[in-house]
Amino acid sequence: MKLLVCGGAGFIGSNFVRQRAGEHGDEVVVLDKLTYAGRRENLADVPHTFVHGGIEDAAAVAQAMEGVDAVVNFAAETHVDRSIAEPDAFVTTHAVGTFVLLEAARERGLRYLQVSTDEVYGSIAEGSFTEESPLEPSSPYSATKTGADLLVQSYTRTFGMETVICRGSNNYGPYQYPEKLIPLMVLNALHGDPLPVYGDGMQVRNWLYVTDFCAGIGHVLAHGAAGEVYNVGGPDECPNIEVVRRIIALTGADASLLTYVEDRPGHDRRYSLGSEKVRALGWEAQVRFEEGLERTVAWYRDNPGWWEPIRSGAYREYYERQYGSSLG
Ligand code: NAD
Ligand code: TYD
Repeated sequence: MKLLVCGGAGFIGSNFVRQRAGEHGDEVVVLDKLTYAGRRENLADVPHTFVHGGIEDAAAVAQAMEGVDAVVNFAAETHVDRSIAEPDAFVTTHAVGTFVLLEAARERGLRYLQVSTDEVYGSIAEGSFTEESPLEPSSPYSATKTGADLLVQSYTRTFGMETVICRGSNNYGPYQYPEKLIPLMVLNALHGDPLPVYGDGMQVRNWLYVTDFCAGIGHVLAHGAAGEVYNVGGPDECPNIEVVRRIIALTGADASLLTYVEDRPGHDRRYSLGSEKVRALGWEAQVRFEEGLERTVAWYRDNPGWWEPIRSGAYREYYERQYGSSLG
C-alpha cells in the first residue's frame, strides 16, 4: 500500500509513519508544512518520501498524491491555548486545507481518513461520548476541527467519496511537542521549573498512548465503513492534578514546583470517549496509563537531543507569552 500521510512530521503523524513503514511495510509519502510543531528529525529513522508544503496548497498536494492508494490527514494546528491566542492558522489549515485535500482525493478516487478529536463533542460530566453524541466544540481548535469533520462527511453524502473519520482522545508518548500537558510537565520537572496547573486541576482527560491511537487509525483505514465515524479512546481517565503528581513522583522533582495558575477560558471539564465501534473492528488499547507515563518520562529523560533545540528556540517566546505573568 502506498499511503500519503499529511502532517506526518508531527507527534502522532511521525509515530504513525514509523508504524506503517516499519511493522506494515507500507510505502509512505509525507506532506508537511513544517510549522513549529513539525520536524524532519521526528522521521530520521523511518523510510519515507518527503514533500514540503501545506495541505491548503493545491500544487503541493497534487505532487504528494501521485501514485498513492489512500490519504491519512493528521495535518493540523493542535494546541487549544494557541487557538485562543491566534486562531487564524486553525481556520486556514482545518477548513481550507481539508477542502483542498478532499477535492484532490475525490478527483483521484482515493480513500480518505480524517484524523479528528474527542474535543468536537465538548465536555461531558458523566458517562462517555458515542459517535452519535452532538457536536458542541468549545475552543477555536475544536470548532475548526468540527468544521473539517462535517466537510469530510459531506464528501461521502454528496459525492459518494470513501471517507472515514477517527476521533482520538488525548494522546501522549514520544515526540510530543512540549506545549502539551504531559511533555511540558515532564521537561519542567526535569529542569526544576514550576509546574503550571490551570484552575483547580480537576479537569479529566482520557489518556491514549500514541501507538494505540496509530493502531486504531490503521484498523479504521483497513476496515472502517465509508462515511462512518470511529471513536478511539484511551483505557484510563485521570484528573490533571493527578497526572502532575505522578510526573513529580516519576522524575523525583520537588512537589513545591506545583503551581496553580489562571484557568484556560472555555476550559472543557471532562472528556471521555466510548470506543465500542472500533473495538468491533478488532482494535484494543494495549498500554495502560501507568505504564505509558513511565515509558514517556523515560523517553524524554533519555532524549535531550530531541528537546534541547526546542526549549532553546522559538518555544521560549511562546512559553513566556503563555505563562510569563502567572509564573512571575
Ligand atoms: P502536532 O501539532 O504534533 O503535528 C501537526 C503536524 O501537522 C506538524 O507536523 C505540522 O507541521 C503539520 N501541519 C500543520 N499545519 C499544516 C498544514 N497546513 N499543511 C501541512 N502540514 C501542516 O499534532 P498531533 O498532536 O500529532 O496531532 C495530529 C492530529 O491528531 C491532528 O489532526 C489533531 O487534531 C489530532 N488529534 C490529536 C490528539 C492529541 O492528543 N495530540 C488527540 C486526538 C486527535
Ligand atoms: P493539553 O495538553 O493542552 O490538551 P487538551 O487541552 O487538548 O486536552 O491540556 C490537557 C489538560 O491539561 C487540559 O485540561 C489543560 C491542562 N493544562 C494545564 O493544566 N497546564 C498546562 O500548562 C497545560 C499545557 C495544560
